[in-house]
Amino acid sequence: MNETLKTILNRRSIRKYKIDQINNNDLDLIIEAGKYAPCGLNQQSSHFTVIQNKKILEKINNICKEFYLKSGVKTFEQRAKSENFNVYYNAPTFIIVSGDKNSPTYINNGSASLENMLLAAESLGLGSCWIHSLSIVFPTEEGKILKKELGIPDDYNFVGAAIFGYKNMEPPLSAPRKENTLNIIR
Ligand SMILES: Cc1cc2nc3c(=O)[nH]c(=O)nc-3n(C[C@H](O)[C@H](O)[C@H](O)COP(=O)(O)O)c2cc1C
Repeated sequence: MNETLKTILNRRSIRKYKIDQINNNDLDLIIEAGKYAPCGLNQQSSHFTVIQNKKILEKINNICKEFYLKSGVKTFEQRAKSENFNVYYNAPTFIIVSGDKNSPTYINNGSASLENMLLAAESLGLGSCWIHSLSIVFPTEEGKILKKELGIPDDYNFVGAAIFGYKNMEPPLSAPRKENTLNIIR
């Protein structure tokens, strides 16, 4: 099997990280991979916000925690009540991908960017995990203030986010793939 396929098959969501920050060269490569994802009409609609500042990361966590607590969803509420609750699993780097809402495919484009970045991280020996929790925060008034503080451009909407860092756990075994999800028409 070639290295690209090995990277795709070996990538797992990592939820425990070492405290060490990833190096800037690796960060640049991850962002480069995100920017080179395919995108509708070649509009390159994705915007990347890299957060490595501990205070901002804590702030994001606290905002998410508040939302989880009043979400009305039992599993979210239970998670938020846990002492160790941390939406970004204490990873040192958090990257938000937003997309130009004027682009008809900005969600697809941003999602392709995210997957490219997860695979780039795996290829560099780093762990990563897609984090969607902020999606409930950004549409709210508090979320709009946070968006401004983070410098996300006005015309851009949140697409998704991911965390990156050195793995501090054995990657979990992947769940078996679902059956009957393929139909080949020849
Ligand atoms: C759109 C999307 C949202 C996700 N959101 C979260 C999240 O908020 N927190 C989390 O721990 N994992 C999140 N994940 C990771 C999934 O739980 C994970 O990809 C899935 O369980 C399969 O495991 P694997 O990535 O190790 O193959 C998300 C994945 C996707 C694609």
